[in-house]
Amino acid sequence: MTDTEPGHPLRIAVVCLGNICRSPMADVVLEQKLDDAGLSDEVRVDSAGTGGWHRGEPMDPRAAAVLTEHGYDPTRHRAQQITSEWFADHDLILTMDASNYDDVAALARTPSDRAKIAMFRSYDPVATPGDDEVPDPWYGGPEGFEHVLGLIERTADAIVAHAPQLVRELTQ
Ligand code: 4NP
Repeated sequence: MTDTEPGHPLRIAVVCLGNICRSPMADVVLEQKLDDAGLSDEVRVDSAGTGGWHRGEPMDPRAAAVLTEHGYDPTRHRAQQITSEWFADHDLILTMDASNYDDVAALARTPSDRAKIAMFRSYDPVATPGDDEVPDPWYGGPEGFEHVLGLIERTADAIVAHAPQLVRELTQ
């Protein structure tokens, strides 16, 4: 127990459309960086898609390949679909794009549910109002997955830097 952990761990969910490309990449990268920072007991991460087409499946092979090339382990992931119940189990729900944001907001049942939702890149120090999404790489080539990994790594570093403050503010 540390002074950043007065109650339960901070529970973060990252959410995209299919939960086989962007949000699993963010989940794996964020978990690795939190572990490297010694914060894996204080912050828990999981991920989901707003759609359920890929439930139970591993990561897209292109996403897994780029993670492996960069030293991350993509093997544990299995796709899940977010439901309204996730609001009770999570403190912060970070969406990859604006469409994911709207779909998650439609699942919120209370103002306190809605207050848990933010864009993942709202933590990216170089995001702007016109450039605040993690674009869907599903229809493109491997360079799209490299681009997505760069956005995710930069944003994950900023989330890890904010983590002690987030734990204090969002857990009790
Ligand atoms: P993701 O990418 O939302 O980053 O996991 C997609 C994966 C699958 C589909 C769309 C986007 N799909 O239409 O099946």
